[in-house]
Amino acid sequence: MTNMRVVLITLPMVFVTIISLVVTMRVQAASRAFFVFGDSLVDSGNNNYLLTTARADSPPYGIDYPGHRPTGRFSNGVNLPDLIGQHIGLSEPTLPYLSPQLTGQRLLVGANFASAGIGILNDTGIQFVGILRMFQQFSLFEQYKQRLSGEVGAEEANRIVNEALVLITLGGNDFVNNYFLTPFSARSRQFTVPQQYCTYLVSQYRNILMRLFDLGARRVLVTGVGPLGCIPAQLATRSINGECVNEIQQAAQFFNQLLLQMTKDLNTQLGCDVFIVANAYQMNMNLITNPQNFGFVTSKVACCGQGRFNGVGLCTALSNICPNRDLYAFWDPFHPTERALRFIVQDIFNGTSDFMSPMNLSTIIAMDSNV
Ligand SMILES: *[C@@H]1O[C@H](CO)[C@@H](O)[C@H](O)[C@H]1NC(C)=O
Ligand SMILES: *[C@@H]1O[C@H](CO)[C@@H](O)[C@H](O)[C@H]1NC(C)=O
Ligand SMILES: *[C@@H]1O[C@H](CO)[C@@H](O)[C@H](O)[C@H]1NC(C)=O
Repeated sequence: MTNMRVVLITLPMVFVTIISLVVTMRVQAASRAFFVFGDSLVDSGNNNYLLTTARADSPPYGIDYPGHRPTGRFSNGVNLPDLIGQHIGLSEPTLPYLSPQLTGQRLLVGANFASAGIGILNDTGIQFVGILRMFQQFSLFEQYKQRLSGEVGAEEANRIVNEALVLITLGGNDFVNNYFLTPFSARSRQFTVPQQYCTYLVSQYRNILMRLFDLGARRVLVTGVGPLGCIPAQLATRSINGECVNEIQQAAQFFNQLLLQMTKDLNTQLGCDVFIVANAYQMNMNLITNPQNFGFVTSKVACCGQGRFNGVGLCTALSNICPNRDLYAFWDPFHPTERALRFIVQDIFNGTSDFMSPMNLSTIIAMDSNV
């Protein structure tokens, strides 16, 4: 009788353990790890843990995020890594590396090292003070790999990193928060645009991508810079009648051309399509040129901000906030709304070679799952 009861009690526990083992293994097998590097377009909350003014941890940021709470994402809702993560089958958003929740088995699905305000150059975003520059994001990644090895062993850790998808979004701040930040910035006295400065930026970006390769990355989605001359922050200060600022647009396009050539050369040199470039400029330009085709009422006025085009200053609880974020292409003076990002992500996954070079992410994922 007593024995029987013990059996009855322990059996379900054994079952639960077996089921949870199976579930855990399925979850791990269903998706590859995801790593994210770069700036505010992809920061999911690292800056919450840093002494910096570049932060999105108070309302109205996150107003449309599950739970309607700010998380450190520079969006009204989810951000670009969240959407890519969902489409590659991750069950949870990739955690910021600095989050205390990122421990144990959670390390196996990846981490986000991005930090708002940073650029390719170390002097980009100095006004934001304590942010994680690229060399710091990489040293945290090395620390991460050590911790991952502690969980699963060095060989398995290398496999997880090699088979992961990596996203890097960088470069916008080198223009808007460095070269074009003030009329006579140090970089603008040193270099001409577009030629000299873009050439310098891309030579430095090359080192960053090679470092990523040396750290084990084998599939890296690189987003070029967007149409920086059209963001409400630039319209507010430099545009007379709402036209995109030509000098900045030219610089962004020239940078993207050099970036594309540089990654092609790297892929040739490495003998493999490690670097996949998303034409973020053209993807965003479609939304900006014909907002009505995408159901937006405007692509010039930010949802959250103040002054001309709602593009002056920061988005805070005291700003003008639009009631329906889905009608705006821009959330704040610098960043797209979640709805705009959903169109971008469609192009990243399913776009033609005009958008994705050498091929789109769906094709990459199909190829990688067949090996
Ligand atoms: C940024 O600083 C780090 C550390 O001092 C250095 O290793 C790296 O080369 C610098 N990057 C650039 C682009 O100057
Ligand atoms: C890409 O296209 C496939 C097939 O039409 C679809 O199932 C998928 O949702 C699309 N992906 C994105 C991100 O739009
Ligand atoms: C991109 O993705 C879709 C699959 O969703 C595919 O049908 C299409 O041919 C791809 N386009 C290019 C140019 O690779």
